[in-house]
Amino acid sequence: MKVLITGGAGFIGSTVAAACLDEGIDVVVLDDLSTGRAEFVEGRILYRGYIADGELVDRIFSDHPDVHAALGCAAKIVVPESVAEPLRYCEDVAAGTPLRAISPRYFNPIGCVPGIRDHDHDHDLARAHVAALRRFDAITSGDAGAAPYRPIAPGTGHGTTVFELIRAFENVTGEPLATEVVGRRPGDNAGAYPDVTLARELLGREPALSIERGIADSPAWHARRDLALAADGND
Ligand SMILES: NC(=O)c1ccc[n+]([C@@H]2O[C@H](COP(=O)([O-])OP(=O)(O)OC[C@H]3O[C@@H](n4cnc5c(N)ncnc54)[C@H](O)[C@@H]3O)[C@@H](O)[C@H]2O)c1
Repeated sequence: MKVLITGGAGFIGSTVAAACLDEGIDVVVLDDLSTGRAEFVEGRILYRGYIADGELVDRIFSDHPDVHAALGCAAKIVVPESVAEPLRYCEDVAAGTPLRAISPRYFNPIGCVPGIRDHDHDHDLARAHVAALRRFDAITSGDAGAAPYRPIAPGTGHGTTVFELIRAFENVTGEPLATEVVGRRPGDNAGAYPDVTLARELLGREPALSIERGIADSPAWHARRDLALAADGND
């Protein structure tokens, strides 16, 4: 199987790409590198460009007629910016026209901390994407009850408050964390975490990695990222 991953040089896209390759799924990346990094697609096929560039997309499908599905991870993701410039964000979201689609909905792959959220390990989320790819036809068109567009929320199904996350961080690192209580960012809601029943039923999987494991793994990921950027002469 081969998949096109848009935004495959970003945080989520590059993690999903790694999970796909681990599972023997070939990967082609389309990314404009606006926030993503070429270092994160090293050794992978990269087309640099905008997701709504029809000619480029045609070229990718002509070069890779065996692409089975496209995984859309290309997006602008800064919440206050999305409130300040909603049209720019809509333009990017509207750029794709789904025929059949599964839309994974999740909140916080370990690392970002507004309000009460479901903090899932990014590797668990990446594996949920792979499960969605493997079961794509059955979920979107095969069995009774299938629908061409399925929003599915993978995750732990538990909300964690900012203060609980801070305590977990301090327990894992053994260090007190310097904190400052400030107001919400524009666009943040008070709390949100998903009902994961559908993910369990349709993707057949449970998150395997704890919030503590996610916290413990974060510095290692950032260290690898800093090394890659330093090697390229960037900060
Ligand atoms: N990071 C999180 O905490 C989080 C949480 C929930 C959902 N998500 C969703 O996951 C998706 C990816 O987020 P991320 O954290 O990996 O962000 P990211 O900024 O790390 O990655 C986005 C990637 O898309 C590329 N890109 C952006 N606009 C593009 C365009 N128009 N054409 C081509 N490439 C483009 C960027 O260069 C980057 O590589 C987003 O839809 C985001 O809403 C992220």
